[in-house]
Amino acid sequence: MMPAEDLYREELLEHYRNPQNYGKLRNADIRYRDFNPVCGDEVEVFIKSGNGIVKDVRFIGKGCAISQAAASIFTESIKGKKLFDVRQMGNDAVLGMLPVKVSHLRIKCALLAFKAVQKGIVMGGKA
Ligand code: FES
Repeated sequence: MMPAEDLYREELLEHYRNPQNYGKLRNADIRYRDFNPVCGDEVEVFIKSGNGIVKDVRFIGKGCAISQAAASIFTESIKGKKLFDVRQMGNDAVLGMLPVKVSHLRIKCALLAFKAVQKGIVMGGKA
């Protein structure tokens, strides 16, 4: 049997290999591209909102396994949520969704999609 840590790492890699919500949303009303200045990796998020709620969400991007897997996990978690609530979320809530504990150096990777979504909501004036 695999040690638990390997299982969690495998779960993360599975999101990296087969990301949820990967692609563009043509009718998105919130869109934001953000990048990690340290490595240049990037994520662009698309949200279709209605009545202040995330109706649909997608992302595209290129980068390390953590940034892309976190984008997959995070986008999946905000479907149906209030934009206002997503905007209020803290870093720890997002890091806590990941199956592995992220080292200090990789926190920016893990929060890339989250930050893009938050900035997109603010810029779009939606919450
Ligand atoms: Fe670039 Fe992780 S190394 S986002």
